[in-house]
Amino acid sequence: MCGIVGYVGSQSALDVVMAGLKRLEYRGYDSAGVAVLSDGGLAAAKKAGKLVNLEKELVERPLPAGSTGIGHTRWATHGGPTDANAHPHLDNAGRVAVVHNGIIENFAALRAELAERGHELGSETDTEVVAHLLAEEFSSCADLAEAMRLVCRRLEGAFTLVAVHADEPDVVVGARRNSPLVVGVGEGEAFLASDVAAFIAHTRSAVELGQDQVVELRRDGVTVTGFDGRPAEVRSYNVDWDADAAEKDGYDYFMLKEIAEQPKAVADTLLGRIDASGNLTLDEVRISASELREMDKVVIVACGTAFHAGLIAKYAIEHWTRIPCEVELASEFRYRDPILDAQTLVIAISQSGETMDTLMALRHAREQGAKVLAICNTNGSTIPRESDAVLYTHAGPEVAVASTKAFLTQLVACYLVALYLGQVRGTKWGDEIQDVIRDLSRIADSVERVLETMEPVRELARSLSDKNTVLFLGRHVGYPVALEGALKLKELAYMHAEGFAAGELKHGPIALIDEDLPVVVVVPSPRGRSILHDKIVSNIQEIRARGARTIVIAEEGDEAVVPYADHLIRIPATPTLLQPLVATVPLQVFACELATARGNEVDQPRNLAKSVTVE
Ligand code: F6R
Repeated sequence: MCGIVGYVGSQSALDVVMAGLKRLEYRGYDSAGVAVLSDGGLAAAKKAGKLVNLEKELVERPLPAGSTGIGHTRWATHGGPTDANAHPHLDNAGRVAVVHNGIIENFAALRAELAERGHELGSETDTEVVAHLLAEEFSSCADLAEAMRLVCRRLEGAFTLVAVHADEPDVVVGARRNSPLVVGVGEGEAFLASDVAAFIAHTRSAVELGQDQVVELRRDGVTVTGFDGRPAEVRSYNVDWDADAAEKDGYDYFMLKEIAEQPKAVADTLLGRIDASGNLTLDEVRISASELREMDKVVIVACGTAFHAGLIAKYAIEHWTRIPCEVELASEFRYRDPILDAQTLVIAISQSGETMDTLMALRHAREQGAKVLAICNTNGSTIPRESDAVLYTHAGPEVAVASTKAFLTQLVACYLVALYLGQVRGTKWGDEIQDVIRDLSRIADSVERVLETMEPVRELARSLSDKNTVLFLGRHVGYPVALEGALKLKELAYMHAEGFAAGELKHGPIALIDEDLPVVVVVPSPRGRSILHDKIVSNIQEIRARGARTIVIAEEGDEAVVPYADHLIRIPATPTLLQPLVATVPLQVFACELATARGNEVDQPRNLAKSVTVE
């Protein structure tokens, strides 16, 4: 949510900052702005709308050259997406500029206080107060880092702040509380950004900032302190992907590229985690085997697509380990006073590792004594840092707002955790488990095969672009897949879409069925538990009898569905528990193509942002 970039070095700050903002635009795209220090002064430009509007503005009214600067792409919280509300915000003298991600909860009181002291505030944002407070503090201490520490101590809420002051032309200062900010260290230059993608073209050497820390960037290095001014310990790491991974690579959209990358993402997430004899080695899970044996309950917390991964994980965990598993929307979790103790394993799933709802849920869980295992795609992000253990997914950077490859890798990670729990707890390893491990090792090929057969799905999607509603049905793990298919369609195509457990249809939703209404049905494998398969075939007949247009996703060789399918999408034969890995892919392609056909922005759907760092 909101993308932030800061730079100090010898390159053109404007070029570095604008290139960084381009890579961060997925985080927020309501407005954008930059500020550059030059010749003892500060110049800023900002514009409502996408970054391209700011680019035009900079062509019409160029900023003076300078090698220290900051920039921002906004996802609006306080105040609409206008020029005035766009960041950076300046003090009245125009000497300080600040950009911000998060929410300053006590801004109204601070604003009133500043107004009393004669400050004029021109925006509706919570951010602007910080520029004015920094200016006041700087006027007495003449040290931007110290001014930032003093101001931060007065702020309530979650925030990342990055500021420059015209009187300190070679300094950028950042601060972080509950909101992402990483430092990049290059030769004679340094960077600050919400995400390493902003500076990966310049350096892969990164420094994590902890909670309540202030960083001062200069060309020759960075200094990190706590809000109290004490020197802080920091962790440096190397980013293990390069700038190319964050490019579109000839695809029209990041989403298309990320869908296509799924076989590799799945294979990378499995890599090194299953040995030759089919045993799991999850060395990174730093919760001891004896502690895992003591666990009597698993609780999964996550949001959106990651929540759907959690819903699927529940089936696998309970079936393979016989440990009860609850799955909860992270945003609801701590408000219902959940029952947790040291025997509860909480699994927090998050692509970004920064989702505030999930972070708050895991903090609550740890306060109650539970152990938290994070499943995360972003090295060094807050959720894994605050968890007892982490299992990283290796999806690589996911730039499109709609999650695709991260979802598949979250599923893989969940299966691995479920199997690992079974392994350390000595769950009776029947043939089924060995079969599952073998099937999992081959699943990347099945995902590849699905991708090779997507043209009819794209054609079908285009033919439905004038529809208003699409329903999705599934049973067992096919039910969360249906929810995921509906979520993708809502967020990308802006259509009414709902996922249902197929058995629930007759308890109400069947009233929605209408002539020609497209209904997507995810059919479980007819092998294994065939009763599940037979039941859903009956459900398809029920909706077909009421005139719906049935779009059936069924495995190759499943002939029972043929008479009832208006459109049949084939997926490779896969054991039911693993089927979401292949059944979700056509739904991603379907939503992406429908969005394109409706003229929507695929990578940046309206009102959304990639990383949701407010509650
Ligand atoms: C939907 C989507 C969101 C995220 C959710 C959680 O396509 O991307 O629903 O899944 O905001 O985000 P993370 O996984 O970063 O915690």
